[in-house]
Amino acid sequence: MKILVTGGAGFIGSAFVRLLMAETGYQAINLDKLTYAGNLENLVAVEDNARYRFVHGDICDAALVNSLVAESKPDAIVHFAAESHVDRSILSPEPVIRTNLHGTFTLLEAARAHSVPRFVHVSTDEVYGSLAAPAEATEEFPLNPSSPYSASKAGSDLLARSYFVTFKLPVVITRASNNYGPYQFPEKLIPLMIANALEDRPLPVYGDGMQVRDWLYVEDHCRGILAVLRQGREGEIYNIGGNRSLPNLDVVHQLLAATGKPTSLIQYVKDRPGHDRRYALSSEKLMGETGWSPRVDFESGLACTIDWYRSHSEWVARVRSGEYRSYYERNYANRV
Ligand code: NAD
Ligand code: TYD
Repeated sequence: MKILVTGGAGFIGSAFVRLLMAETGYQAINLDKLTYAGNLENLVAVEDNARYRFVHGDICDAALVNSLVAESKPDAIVHFAAESHVDRSILSPEPVIRTNLHGTFTLLEAARAHSVPRFVHVSTDEVYGSLAAPAEATEEFPLNPSSPYSASKAGSDLLARSYFVTFKLPVVITRASNNYGPYQFPEKLIPLMIANALEDRPLPVYGDGMQVRDWLYVEDHCRGILAVLRQGREGEIYNIGGNRSLPNLDVVHQLLAATGKPTSLIQYVKDRPGHDRRYALSSEKLMGETGWSPRVDFESGLACTIDWYRSHSEWVARVRSGEYRSYYERNYANRV
């Protein structure tokens, strides 16, 4: 199998490429624009592998995407590339709409033109919006996104599905819960809190910190996507969850305990506008159809993640230099 992976230099995409190289004989072509979130350092372990190739480019560039698909004739496209952060989508929605909607459209058109046999569209549980307890979203739940990010993902899900219904393009959609693990850009909750805690800096908790997220270790997510790539039925949607719902404040307390840092580092700050209170999802369909289930429990996953950030302080320092500083300033300056 030859797989065209988009966004393979990001957090989840790079974990997927590393998994393909380590545990399958597949070839991977990684198309990535290398935005602030794309980092070739995440792929050092595979860069010399003869089955791996990197192409620097934008998924919105129709000429490039078309010629890459025509020339490489992939057996599947696994589409990760996105602007993936809610807070950034609130500060600057334009790149989010462009990449997540127009970029997905460009890939779908190229897949249609060249009859690509499989298109896995990687989406998120955020498209279901906030759910009152004890509901868990199944794949049939209505879409009710709240942020420019989740609305753009819901739009691209619907577009991908329309290419199956209208053009019979063999699309499969995955919707995963919140991922965590090594190589995650320190703008999302867990890596940001770990990086700050390790440097004795304040941990900015939005609002009352009682928002609930379901946590999925990144490798478990990638194995779920691989299962869908191999066994998922065309036109279907598969939720991928970690089956571990926790309020943010519990996550922060756990990581402070694990890093041996005091709770006095917690700083309650102004809430995120439109903040979804609770995400929860059921992965029964994926488990029943493919035999997949998450392997890593939250405590072990968090411990491994903390160890990784502790031993990769130079990686953190490099990604935090430059652009990160101005983002951090813009996002957190008016919250305190
Ligand atoms: P990320 O922000 O770490 O990485 C995104 C990657 O896409 C980067 O390498 C970036 O350079 C690349 N990219 C961005 N715009 C591009 C463009 N126009 N052309 C080509 N490449 C471009 O994101 P992530 O956390 O790894 O998320 C990957 C996918 O998984 C996204 O589609 C996201 O919506 C989805 N997802 C993420 C989570 C999560 O918790 N992080 C959960 C569920 C689903
Ligand atoms: P995040 O990692 O941005 O993921 P998402 O918004 O896509 O779920 O945030 C996870 C939760 O953590 C969310 O409820 C917002 C909260 N949060 C904070 O309290 N403080 C922070 O600094 C960040 C980045 C997030």
